[in-house]
Amino acid sequence: MKIGNIELENNIILAPMAGITNLGYRLFMKKFGCGLVVSEMVSDYALIYNNKETFEMLKTCKEERPLAIQLFGGSKESLLKAEKILLENADFDILDINLGCPVPKVVKGNAGSSWLKKEREEELYEMMKAIVENSTKPVTCKIRLGWDDSTINVVDTCKILEKAGVSLIAIHGRTRAQFYEGKANYEYIKKAKEAISIPLIANGDIDSVEKANEVLEYTKADGIMIGRYALGNPNLIKELAYNYLNKEINITRSINEQLNFIMEHYNKLKEIKGEYRSISEMRGLAPHYLKGYPDCKAYKARLSQMRSEEELYQIIDDIMKQSKDI
Ligand SMILES: Cc1cc2nc3c(=O)[nH]c(=O)nc-3n(C[C@H](O)[C@H](O)[C@H](O)COP(=O)(O)O)c2cc1C
Repeated sequence: MKIGNIELENNIILAPMAGITNLGYRLFMKKFGCGLVVSEMVSDYALIYNNKETFEMLKTCKEERPLAIQLFGGSKESLLKAEKILLENADFDILDINLGCPVPKVVKGNAGSSWLKKEREEELYEMMKAIVENSTKPVTCKIRLGWDDSTINVVDTCKILEKAGVSLIAIHGRTRAQFYEGKANYEYIKKAKEAISIPLIANGDIDSVEKANEVLEYTKADGIMIGRYALGNPNLIKELAYNYLNKEINITRSINEQLNFIMEHYNKLKEIKGEYRSISEMRGLAPHYLKGYPDCKAYKARLSQMRSEEELYQIIDDIMKQSKDI
């Protein structure tokens, strides 16, 4: 699949996730075979006001490419300023605009899924057209089905974005009002695909190769985007990458491998952020690697409270000692 002039090795995209898809995680996940990785969302105003932490989020490296950086913001003017800063300060391949974030703080600033409100269609077109015109890189968008059930306008939104010159659209099959509740609705993704000719990516609730194949077949989407179900289960990306090549792979998941993944994920974070911040991040992330192991409840609790690398090693060691029983 091609996004503008950027060729992807496969059609499996690692979804942007704030607080998770930083450089360390992206590097860790890349080796499982993601065709494209996307950064955490970056705020327009944080860039404009020179926020140090936000500039740290712009660190990228060769091994993770191709890479999309995702920007969010509430007005054409602020997004254009931020776009210029991004283009001058970061090394990346694709600029992605977040038009789907449902978080109240983001929506209150007219950003994220606030752009999907019907009354903003004209403004959305003008904003995206200007962003595309001012970009030296292909521009993509990530959207939802619409604001709420009674105002689903995803087909119109896709037509507007295509007309504005966007190179690809990823659709999370939920409305803003749903947040993460209910099930992703693929019917609207199918309708959107029929209405546009730029590449379209289906996203939401894809948790297995079987589900990915079903969604691709039903929607005729050009690719899939995977977020929560690869967290703690990076082998899912490997299985999907093999499936893309019509190759079979039989991965038997083991607790030892899961523990190795925790360490690899942690070490990648540590290379970039040091021990303290990486341990703090891993408190929320490491327990995901023990999903599906009911006997690991107590270990998950310990991981979610650990305070040092030494403690992390100790917990891993304790699990390994008992792993024959798990
Ligand atoms: C913790 C978390 C953070 C997220 N952050 C972002 C973000 O920064 N930008 C974005 O477009 N979507 C974000 N999302 C939404 C995901 O990219 C994705 O659309 C959603 O999780 C549905 O896909 P999934 O079922 O494969 O997880 C986030 C989701 C989660 C769970």
